[in-house]
Amino acid sequence: MTVEPFYTYIDKDTKKLDKANAESVVTLGEMADSFADKNSALAMSDKVVYRVFKRSVDEKAGELLQCTTEILPGLCAGEFFMTRGHGHICKECAEIYLGISGKGLVLMQHDSEFKYEELVPGKAVYIPGGWNHRTVNVCVDESLFFYSVWPAQSGYDYSALERIPFLYRVYEEDDAYCLRGTL
Ligand code: PA5
Ligand code: MN
Repeated sequence: MTVEPFYTYIDKDTKKLDKANAESVVTLGEMADSFADKNSALAMSDKVVYRVFKRSVDEKAGELLQCTTEILPGLCAGEFFMTRGHGHICKECAEIYLGISGKGLVLMQHDSEFKYEELVPGKAVYIPGGWNHRTVNVCVDESLFFYSVWPAQSGYDYSALERIPFLYRVYEEDDAYCLRGTL
């Protein structure tokens, strides 16, 4: 299949990608294992943590996939709402996140090396190939909304975080965010 030229709109108001052909919604219950306090997550299991609107094209080398993610504001036993996080099966495949609204952090980890970057409107964060990544909404009263673009052959490796968990978690403390080591 050849891909014809096309465009998408990133809608700040509806927090959607208008030409998305796949939508996913992740609840606390579905990602309870990702939070430090699994029981608190299960106690609010129906609560939506994030929504993704993805525009897929033929997943062959050279093509680009794109999506928007809205992480709702919220805390699970003091830990900010976040994505499950993953690595790419293709270790050479990088990704760019562009902040659209709200404020968050992009956590990135390559083996034992950990880095994070704030994600704010207009800021593009480059996630190199081989770095596992997770995004955290650090506002308690506003969604974090961002746009992502990555190579079609990347693939998702969700078990990467089970093998090498993130070295830091992000908590609310004194009306600010604070990173706490997990070791
Ligand atoms: O491709 C990406 O890295 C993002 O679009 C994420 O898939 C999205 O933010 C949802 O996170 P996760 O895939 O970790 O559930
Ligand atoms: Mn990714």
